[in-house]
Amino acid sequence: MLKPSVLKELKSIVGPANFSTSPEELVVYSYDATRKEALPWVVVRPRTSREISEILRLANRERFPVVPRGAGTGMSGGSIPVQGGVVLSLERMNHILEIDEQNFIAVVEPGVITGDLQREVESRGLFYPPDPASRMFCTLGGNVAECAGGLRAVKYGVTKDYVLGLEVVLPTGEIITTGARTAKSVAGYDLTKLIVGSEGTLGVVTRITVRLLRLPESVRTLAAFFNEIPVAAKTASAIMASGVLPRALEFVDQTALRAVEGYLKEDLSHGAAAMLLVEVDGPAESTSRDADRIAEIMMQSGAARVDRAGSDAEREQLWKARRAISPALYTIKPKKLNEDIVVPRSRIAESLQGIAAIAERYGLLIVNFGHAGDGNIHTNILFDEADLPKAEAAVKEIFAATLRLGGSITGEHGVGLSKAAYLPMELGSEAIAAMKRIKHALDPNNILNPGKIFLNAE
Ligand code: MLT
Ligand code: ZN
Repeated sequence: MLKPSVLKELKSIVGPANFSTSPEELVVYSYDATRKEALPWVVVRPRTSREISEILRLANRERFPVVPRGAGTGMSGGSIPVQGGVVLSLERMNHILEIDEQNFIAVVEPGVITGDLQREVESRGLFYPPDPASRMFCTLGGNVAECAGGLRAVKYGVTKDYVLGLEVVLPTGEIITTGARTAKSVAGYDLTKLIVGSEGTLGVVTRITVRLLRLPESVRTLAAFFNEIPVAAKTASAIMASGVLPRALEFVDQTALRAVEGYLKEDLSHGAAAMLLVEVDGPAESTSRDADRIAEIMMQSGAARVDRAGSDAEREQLWKARRAISPALYTIKPKKLNEDIVVPRSRIAESLQGIAAIAERYGLLIVNFGHAGDGNIHTNILFDEADLPKAEAAVKEIFAATLRLGGSITGEHGVGLSKAAYLPMELGSEAIAAMKRIKHALDPNNILNPGKIFLNAE
């Protein structure tokens, strides 16, 4: 707990309206999309990097934890104040500062909603490709912290591929800028890449410069339905091997389909065992050729049916359903462990087969959907509270099987709290020790988002 004099100092940094210790407000800042929760002692909503710098200097003097927070849509517990302390909400730093149409650059504050930036640049014929499923709620600061991926990563890459530079308040309070606004820069260590994906443990990002592209001229969307899951998985691999590069290639299994159909009260898949949702973009002539080629591969690989979205409204409907899967799964069981394993694209079918065997052995319901084009599958274990030990044992086996296939335990959600115990399985102790040395160098008192990524700080 903080001394009254420290509370007073915090309040005077951000102003009384942006400071709260009221239990009702603390609850609002206590959880994320993992549905884990821990109450902070205080919430502050700074408006400037200078205020953040003062808060962090105070935290070092008084040794209290500070946990940066975007919109709380994270999937690994990154913004949960597990050790209490101060939640530093970036919600007031929510301005698009600049869109430079000539140089294809946008500069934003961290609290800008990703979908708002997309809409704003698209109205000018520009394109910000990273597209997390939660884009209507999540913030760019959160995307940077977690290096968010999303639905278009298969063609366009993830958040780190678009961040050119940052303003960052270091844990010890210094305000630095990283990167540049130019297409190239190799001036010193690449601190931008170090900060992107560091899960709010190495600095508080206060300004983000991103690269934009020209908005693609045309988009085509196809949905293929399958009677068997392995056939859908092999079709995804066949599309990726064909040389046509879709901008999205999503897989949804039957349990996820039924859940989202119930949630949205509509029939999308006519009882199919699996669906692939594929989108191509580019000049009109090439998208229609690519869509034809993909439809052909789908049919040759054994799809029972291939539909093409005829209008923007139909496209939107399909993507709305895809984005709603995650919340829809809570209608099946009260608890879920949502993982985001990645395997080489050619090994998706093998991976799904292994997961099915684990599900059977443990008597658990495991649902799979996600970014098949990246080999990035959201494996969700759905269970009742009493089955938590079983679900955790199954997760460990799924991670071990993923690593045996040459994969990674997390493609886009980050380690946070949920995967800290498993990180050594992938990285080994020496790589983790090197990471901890970086953390210690930048945050010697371990005040910034402690308890994340590593099981212990030493
Ligand atoms: C998604 O792709 O829908 C998100 O990453 C969320 C999830 O994994 O449930
Ligand atoms: Zn995802």
